[in-house]
Amino acid sequence: MGSVVCTNKKSPPSTLLSDVPNPFLVDENRMEVKDNNDKYFDEGELKEFENQQFQVQKMVNKCIKWQSLNHYLGSGSFGSVELGKDIENGQFIAVKQLSIKGYNPKQIQTKIDQFEQEILVLSKLDHPNIVKYLGMEQTQNHINLFLEHVSGGSIKSLLERYGKFPENLVQVYTKQILQGIEYLHKHGIIHRDIKGANILVDSTGICKLADFGSSKRLSFAKEECKTFTGTPNWMAPEVINGKGHGRFADIWSLGCTIIEMLTGKPPWCDETKNQYQIIMEVMKGSPPNIPSHLSSSIKEFLSHCFQQEPHKRWNVIKLLNHPFIPNTSNTTFSVDISNMFKPLQKQIN
Ligand SMILES: Nc1ncnc2c1ncn2[C@@H]1O[C@H](COP(=O)(O)OP(=O)(O)O)[C@@H](O)[C@H]1O
Ligand SMILES: [Mg+2]
Repeated sequence: MGSVVCTNKKSPPSTLLSDVPNPFLVDENRMEVKDNNDKYFDEGELKEFENQQFQVQKMVNKCIKWQSLNHYLGSGSFGSVELGKDIENGQFIAVKQLSIKGYNPKQIQTKIDQFEQEILVLSKLDHPNIVKYLGMEQTQNHINLFLEHVSGGSIKSLLERYGKFPENLVQVYTKQILQGIEYLHKHGIIHRDIKGANILVDSTGICKLADFGSSKRLSFAKEECKTFTGTPNWMAPEVINGKGHGRFADIWSLGCTIIEMLTGKPPWCDETKNQYQIIMEVMKGSPPNIPSHLSSSIKEFLSHCFQQEPHKRWNVIKLLNHPFIPNTSNTTFSVDISNMFKPLQKQIN
């Protein structure tokens, strides 16, 4: 049993604290959870992954000559992301920067180790629904990770700009997010931080999974117990309970992201609960509120994501075959979303 470190101004009653076995709230919105590394995949799946011959190779340390365009793209828990230009080919790139200014060599090494996890995973991935890794560099003050620039920004920023998405757009995006997750799970990778802020959309409406800072590869799964931070609103019950973090946790978080897209707000946001009450609800296996006006098809789909027992949740393959998922190709949209991106295009040109 662990305890909760609380920096929240609204302190919860002490009885609530003692009920929470594992998580540590690191600030008002994020928590640190112990990763107990129990069952990630069953034996049949492990065999299948071995056959994929997907090996983690040496870290790709490709450096890019680039110039800053002084345009802020976003930030998260790790660092900020800015727009840059590859001087050699003129392409826009996204530069995720980790500041190391003022840290001693030991602290810098720790930061590099953290960043390495993201680079190790990302540099091996090649899928249209996953953001492309281009290289990295270390300067005096920063470690920079170069990524393909995804011009529409994150789903979270689109929701902030344009409000909640219509159900048919959510259908299309969900299919693409699932295809990205399918690729990851097939290769023994669990993303572990699926949410609107970590899914980017390009100018043609293609969704790309990003932010692999919390992700885990199967080959690392037997390492000693580690902690990682995430946002409790999107976390599965078993993650908050500290019972392990298998691939089905990504499915719960996908369900939360669908709620986020349909309501325009983070899951649990429409309820008058503080972070502690949300944590307690999720620990009991309660899903976030599902708006009553939604179609029966989407409600049915969500019911397969929000099973308390991880193995009762549907896997990606089954979800991709659910009637809620459109049977069209990736690039065919049943709604015209091109107008959504015009203002963004103007900003960066
Ligand atoms: N490749 C990219 N193209 C465009 N915007 C990006 C890109 N990568 C990140 N961003 C923006 O920066 C934000 C933070 O990036 P992220 O990788 O999630 O950082 P963190 O690990 O700090 O959470 C994203 O929510 C998004 O708005
Ligand atoms: Mg992020």
